[in-house]
Amino acid sequence: MTAIGLFAGIGGIELGLARAGHRTKLLCENELGAIAVLHERFPEIPVHADVCDLEKLPRGTQLVAAGFPCQDLSQAGTTAGIRGERSGLIDEVFRLLRTHDVPWLLLENVPFMLQLHQGQALDHIVTALEELGYAWAYRVVDSRSTGLPQRRERVYVVASKVGDPRDVLLVDDAGEPAPPALERWRDVACGFYWTEGLRGLGWAVDAVPTLKGGSTIGIPSPPAIVLPSGEIVQPDIRDAERLQGFEADWTLPSNEVQRSGHRWKLVGNAVTVDVAAWIGKRLVEPGTYDPGSDEPLHRTRKGSWPRAAWGAKSERWISFVSAWPVREATPPLEKFLRYPTRPLSVRAAAGFYSRARQAKLRFPPGFLELVERRANFSLRA
Ligand SMILES: C[S@@+](CC[C@H](N)C(=O)[O-])C[C@H]1O[C@@H](n2cnc3c(N)ncnc32)[C@H](O)[C@@H]1O
Repeated sequence: MTAIGLFAGIGGIELGLARAGHRTKLLCENELGAIAVLHERFPEIPVHADVCDLEKLPRGTQLVAAGFPCQDLSQAGTTAGIRGERSGLIDEVFRLLRTHDVPWLLLENVPFMLQLHQGQALDHIVTALEELGYAWAYRVVDSRSTGLPQRRERVYVVASKVGDPRDVLLVDDAGEPAPPALERWRDVACGFYWTEGLRGLGWAVDAVPTLKGGSTIGIPSPPAIVLPSGEIVQPDIRDAERLQGFEADWTLPSNEVQRSGHRWKLVGNAVTVDVAAWIGKRLVEPGTYDPGSDEPLHRTRKGSWPRAAWGAKSERWISFVSAWPVREATPPLEKFLRYPTRPLSVRAAAGFYSRARQAKLRFPPGFLELVERRANFSLRA
């Protein structure tokens, strides 16, 4: 398909679609660091800056892809919602779709939007799609299913005027594997967010938690990883890029226009390449979805949206597919990391330790002791 990438960021969706054989003809992105990456990595594709002054889509566009801004829809963001200044930019996508009969659409955003403000974001999105004449399907997908040791759940929406989006997005279901036993945490590398500690640990066994474009303390930052040796380290940005399915140093060109820490933001905001590639492949070769066990979705009572659903103008249904459409073999996190890690600073460990002590969260036995040991490192040294 001939695709257009709106809110292209560093091109996670576009790279994944390219792996499946689709060709992007135009990118739209207004942040300087991301634009530098796009120019370097997709030199032949023009980049338009602001979606708001993109008047129309190029003739022949078959697929519009848009991982639209999540700041107003995420737990750590403004929670202003779908009418927020940034997430409200989804309306620019709908404006463009009114100017051009685009057969296929792919959207991506954070799962918190399913529950924020009783699910208003999804109400807004599917209502707009139905008015535009699209059939739609959406689903939460975990990036770990594609073989990367990053626990990252995102909502993917596929809509179409010519095909059945369920046959693309809902047809595969490998089922979620049993979670790794928490007692195993000392045998494998475990990721956590040292910037958190009051609202949630963001703990992941043999994986890193979701790489994020921002954090509760305002700056994008790498997660921490407890290694089986007991060391607490932070991964290199090149491994973070790989954890999102990019090749190492994919975002290096942003250093020409931004400070180097900005790369964490770009990587955290990106769509996992391998998930986009799986969707891209199913767009080329759809299956046949069996809705036999689906249930009607009644949105009379306001509340959260389910984790997967589909519909069109006259009907809406809940699907019970898992967040694991496929189950690619995933290397252990410790083996996956290829670049030198650096120890979590004593200051970071001390800050996390004191927040964690205040919070009444339950930690795996022995974990806080390791953090405490790191936090007291300078005192004992
Ligand atoms: C969630 S990120 C998308 C990430 C992208 N799909 C990727 O894989 O890297 C949203 C992007 O929208 C961009 N953006 C925000 N406002 C914009 C605007 N008015 N015009 C174009 N892009 C915009 C942001 O700079 C950010 O890169």
